[in-house]
This record gives sequence, structure tokens and C-alpha cells, in this order.
Amino acid sequence: MAQSITILVGTMTGTADMVAQEVQQALETAGHEGKIVMMDGLDAKVFAPDGVFLLCTSTYGNGDVPDNAQKLYASLEADAPNLSAVTYGVIALGDRTYKDTYCHGGIRFDALLKKLGARRAGEILMHDAGSGTLPEEVAAEWVVPWVEQHLEKDTELA
Ligand SMILES: Cc1cc2nc3c(=O)[nH]c(=O)nc-3n(C[C@H](O)[C@H](O)[C@H](O)COP(=O)(O)O)c2cc1C
Repeated sequence: MAQSITILVGTMTGTADMVAQEVQQALETAGHEGKIVMMDGLDAKVFAPDGVFLLCTSTYGNGDVPDNAQKLYASLEADAPNLSAVTYGVIALGDRTYKDTYCHGGIRFDALLKKLGARRAGEILMHDAGSGTLPEEVAAEWVVPWVEQHLEKDTELA
């Protein structure tokens, strides 16, 4: 069944954006819809239409979300909307050199969305920039099985 997924991108230097574009391509090739939305300037209302979201975000500073995701993260914390109708997945970009904060940008979003009642489908995809693999390739291979294993049953397009 075709799925419609909003890909929210948190990035500092564009890697997560590139990952989102490859993920969108893979989704469309498999007959799904992927809509890329940069997190810049967004607030908690982006989750208002419910549905399925894929957060694609890197990690900066001391395990923080990237600058363009700060407003959205703070708005979710402050407004604390009920997200029980939201299903989401997470692609977290990081680097294992930062061993205490590895992929914490994505992990922090996951913890916050979970606290607000949203349902995470499947496991977080974590990518290590030092792994020798390309995050856009890893994510593009991951996303269609993710949809088919975790979303097919309950979030079909009307
Ligand atoms: C200044 C700086 C701080 C970073 N801090 C972390 C960190 O705390 N944890 C982590 O896992 N990765 C960290 N990273 C790695 C980035 O998250 C990783 O390189 C990512 O692929 C960058 O994606 P982007 O271009 O979309 O921002 C850091 C990178 C830089 C340059």
C-alpha cells in the first residue's frame, strides 16, 4: 500500500538534506510519497495533520540538535502537544568519535516525541560518519523495508 511520509530535515552542513533527497527518491521509486520539509522555522504545529513523519537529523555541539531544528525542538518542549495520532521514524546522523553523544540529535527528538505520545515505527537508523559508508546510500536502502515492515498495516493512504 502506498504511504505518504513527511521527511523533516535537521542539518548544519547539508548531509541530512542529501540523505532526505535519496530517501525521497527511494520512496517514490517504490510507489510511496515523500515530502521533504526543512526544519527551519518550524514549530510543533507541523505535526498537527497527524500522519507519518521521518525525522532526518544530524547532531551538533554537545549532543544537540542542529541550529535549524532548535526552534522546533523548543516548541515541542514548551507546547507539549498530544501527538498520539503521529507515527514517526528517525534517521540520526552522527559520528562515533563523539562517544558520549553519538547520534543524540535524533535520539533527543525520539525521546521527546515518545514523551508526547507519538508512536515510533521500528528502530532508529543511526549513521556513523566515520564508518566508511555513505549515509544517503545506507538510508535509501533502509527506508523501503522500514515502510513495508512497520507502516503497511495501519497508516495506508485513504
Ligand atoms: C562541530 C561538530 C559537532 C558534532 N557533534 C556531534 C555529536 O555530539 N555527536 C555525534 O554523534 N555527531 C556529532 N557531529 C557529527 C555530525 O552530526 C555528522 O558529521 C553529520 O553527518 C553532519 O550532518 P549535517 O551535514 O546534516 O549537519 C558533530 C560534527 C561537528 C562538525
